[in-house]
Amino acid sequence: MYKIEYLFSQKKVSCYFDAEFSDIQELLTDQQIVIITDEVLYTHYEKEIKKFPVIKFAAGEAHKNQSIVDYIIEELIKLGAHKNTFLIGLGGGVVTDITGYIAAVYMRGLSFGLVPTTVLAMVDAAIGGKNGIDVGVYKNMIGTIRQPEFIFYDYNFLETLPTKEWVNGFAEIIKHACIKDAVMFSDLEKYTFHQYKTDRKLIAELIEKNVLIKSQIVAEDEFEKEERKFLNFGHTIGHAIENLYGIPHGHAVSIGMVAACNLSEKLNNFSQDATARIIRLLTAYHLPINMEFDHQKFFEILKMDKKCMNNGVHFILLKSIGHAQIKFISLSDLENNIKETI
Ligand SMILES: NC(=O)c1ccc[n+]([C@@H]2O[C@H](COP(=O)([O-])OP(=O)(O)OC[C@H]3O[C@@H](n4cnc5c(N)ncnc54)[C@H](O)[C@@H]3O)[C@@H](O)[C@H]2O)c1
Ligand SMILES: [Zn+2]
Repeated sequence: MYKIEYLFSQKKVSCYFDAEFSDIQELLTDQQIVIITDEVLYTHYEKEIKKFPVIKFAAGEAHKNQSIVDYIIEELIKLGAHKNTFLIGLGGGVVTDITGYIAAVYMRGLSFGLVPTTVLAMVDAAIGGKNGIDVGVYKNMIGTIRQPEFIFYDYNFLETLPTKEWVNGFAEIIKHACIKDAVMFSDLEKYTFHQYKTDRKLIAELIEKNVLIKSQIVAEDEFEKEERKFLNFGHTIGHAIENLYGIPHGHAVSIGMVAACNLSEKLNNFSQDATARIIRLLTAYHLPINMEFDHQKFFEILKMDKKCMNNGVHFILLKSIGHAQIKFISLSDLENNIKETI
């Protein structure tokens, strides 16, 4: 186990890599600990987890809502949780988002640590302090920004991760490569999905590189004035189709990235060859690149996006692979171009 610290405005967050869950004891003081997790993880890892008091809820995005938050808060009260209680969110992005949110609001704030167990949570959801819940079809409508004390990387958890969740995680990894790291993009072209899935050293290096990319972007722009917005590459369109059709997040982001590449060709001189390279890479990692959808419903949802204002949206386009740019695009321009691009 080794530690890298990232400095954010509110606090220093320690990332422990190559760790084993049993070593987590070393990080904890004699505070009361409560683990928040989902039922799938509890079933797989009951033996390791149940050394601590556990609050668990049904897995999946459908449960990232206020009623689960109410339930967890009631359970915390039953356990006698107080201002000094330390929460540990062990799971995918749903668990890490909910844990961060509860830690921000329960008794006006508790300390917490995260143990991400999906590729997506390891490279994305657990990093950066954003947390929250959905309201109906509107994703992450309510939430705060609050950094954990630590993020704990035990790659053993990935052994039980279903292939489709690996695929979802790679959508965010490819996103990081597109916006920030042309060398990592080439690495992803060089190796295969299967190699990353089966070679522990290779996946560890890739995850750590992605933690660095996201942490640096967030540290430079924690409250999303400029560069943090790059992380939304593929997400404006992605979120809308994800909400509309309930397809997996990574799939939606992949389709959104291809649409954003097409827009980048039209509006930002992005090369056709680069779009073709991105499409090839997404396909190699088993991600979809297009789908049919209902334009009218799509734009109704898009208009409700938190990022949509003044009848337009700050859209993330690419200049070249590894370099992103923000451009304000009016909804009508988007409507005209997207008709032709997805
Ligand atoms: N806060 C942020 O900055 C941020 C960034 C990206 C995504 N997110 C959020 O993350 C969520 C998606 O995260 P996710 O893709 O990790 O989904 P998830 O938490 O729903 O996990 C996916 C599925 O995998 C299961 N699972 C998790 N780890 C496992 C393991 N090791 N072995 C077996 N099964 C396992 C879960 O039980 C679940 O069924 C979304 O709600 C999204 O909004 C947040
Ligand atoms: Zn995402």
